[in-house]
Amino acid sequence: MSNARMLPGGPVAEAILADVRKRVEAMKAQGVTPSLATILVGDDDASAGYIRIKQKQAAELGFESPHAHLPADAKQEDLLAVIQGYNDDRAVHGVLVQYPVPGHLDYDAALQSLDPDKDVDGLHPLNMGRLALGMPGPLPCTPAGIEEILAFYEIPVSGKNVVILGRGATLGRPLAMLLAQKRPTANAAVTVVHTGVPDWADYTRRADILIAAAGVPGIVRPEHVRPGAVVIGGGVRYEGRRLLPDVDESVEEVAGAITPRVGGVGPTTVAMLFRNAIAAAERA
Ligand SMILES: NC(=O)c1ccc[n+]([C@@H]2O[C@H](COP(=O)([O-])OP(=O)(O)OC[C@H]3O[C@@H](n4cnc5c(N)ncnc54)[C@H](OP(=O)(O)O)[C@@H]3O)[C@@H](O)[C@H]2O)c1
Repeated sequence: MSNARMLPGGPVAEAILADVRKRVEAMKAQGVTPSLATILVGDDDASAGYIRIKQKQAAELGFESPHAHLPADAKQEDLLAVIQGYNDDRAVHGVLVQYPVPGHLDYDAALQSLDPDKDVDGLHPLNMGRLALGMPGPLPCTPAGIEEILAFYEIPVSGKNVVILGRGATLGRPLAMLLAQKRPTANAAVTVVHTGVPDWADYTRRADILIAAAGVPGIVRPEHVRPGAVVIGGGVRYEGRRLLPDVDESVEEVAGAITPRVGGVGPTTVAMLFRNAIAAAERA
């Protein structure tokens, strides 16, 4: 039996998108249409599905969304040429390269060739550096969305013991930097555990807020969680279209509050993408 308070991402995302919508309208009233370009390489079903969701959301918010679809055997220079074209196009304010790209291509090199001010994923090295230094810039979408979920549901973070399982570049590492910043919705004592910490459960069992960011289905079980703790499920793995979360279903029985297995951090990640995109358009 679950007594945990549910923390769905949907209402959080709606609040963020309502703000984005207003900002889009204000920009259009000044004669500029914000534009978010998307790039897809290859024909992976899941990736094509994500692009469709983002384009539908873009249209609904009033963005233009030019799209480049490269064949699966595209060369690195083909991808770089498309990115350069969008970098140089003043009518394009944000650019998204859908991850993953086919194995023969270098995603990191592609990301580094992107204009950091058009990087709506917030993952360009310059933007990671800005985050580390507390400078303004696009924030990585999933970490920023997790901070928004905690703030929206008025879960105290400042001064709390936050433990993150995973130190990956898209989630655990930037999230640790974000939640340790000196701001009322952050300001936490953050610990990051990973495969180098065999007794990681000793840490997670003491967490006020435990954030799973490993990408290992079912890795977080009830015995890893302090009864009453807040549990945020960020890590997922896909098997085809099936989504396998890091947090086992049974954790609901011990957690005080928890994100649902579906509709948790996914919706806020997409919302933060559009917040980054409208901010990029406003800066331009
Ligand atoms: N929902 C969303 O919108 C969204 C967005 C972005 C990412 N994600 C998910 O978030 C997860 C993390 O993403 P990422 O890019 O940061 O991944 P990543 O680079 O693969 O990082 C995974 C981290 O988990 C740790 N880990 C893996 N297995 C472990 C184990 N058995 N015990 C302890 N630690 C373990 C790894 O430790 P080592 O460093 O020691 O290897 C690593 O630090 C993925 O599942 C990804 O799908 C979700």
